[in-house]
Amino acid sequence: MVEEIFSSPKKRGRIAVFLSGRGSNFRAILEAADAGKINASIALVFSNVEAAPGLLFARERGLESLYLNPKLFASREEYDKEAVRQVRKRDVDLVCLAGYMRILTPYFCREFKNRSMNIHPALLPSFPGLHVQQKAIDWGVRYSGATVHFVAEEVDMGPIIIQAAVPVLQDDIEDTLAARILVEEHKIYPEAVRLYFEGRLDVRGRRVFIRET
Ligand code: GAR
Repeated sequence: MVEEIFSSPKKRGRIAVFLSGRGSNFRAILEAADAGKINASIALVFSNVEAAPGLLFARERGLESLYLNPKLFASREEYDKEAVRQVRKRDVDLVCLAGYMRILTPYFCREFKNRSMNIHPALLPSFPGLHVQQKAIDWGVRYSGATVHFVAEEVDMGPIIIQAAVPVLQDDIEDTLAARILVEEHKIYPEAVRLYFEGRLDVRGRRVFIRET
């Protein structure tokens, strides 16, 4: 049975991007939206890092941006409650985690169940967590890649939407593998967001089905 059918394909959607750093995935989504490939616009760029280059870029582009200082909140729950409030205030349809290096509370995950996505630089469920390109090299896997998935309470473990594989080469170091994976990230994240706003993603248990047009 279809658990949920997402946003209406007719309405132009609103995206909140959460990031902590460079923001190259954010820019890939923004470019796709600007080019009319995604039926949505960026309503908010949110960060837990004041000097995140992605946040500064959003400001330069005149996008609505918001930094919340984690030190001003008594707990992670309080922080996420405020983040949720800010997102709701802007009538956002989808939250895209794009290098957001802060673990979300179960509260946040429940509030945006099947309405938040994450990109991860490995073929999940292999290599969740951090420094995963180095872990893939150390394990000696022949392929790694990127995964876009819906956010669930268990970190990096939500229903998988799209994956892309890349070879791991014998002379790879963390940076070279990360760069090869990043090229794929910039393709599959905008693609997953596009499918979402076309109302074509159905979640059934762990599995995501992509409906034909
Ligand atoms: C990306 O490689 C993304 O997959 C990774 O952080 C990088 C952010 O780059 N995310 C994670 O590791 C989350 N577990 P960006 O700021 O240039 O988009």
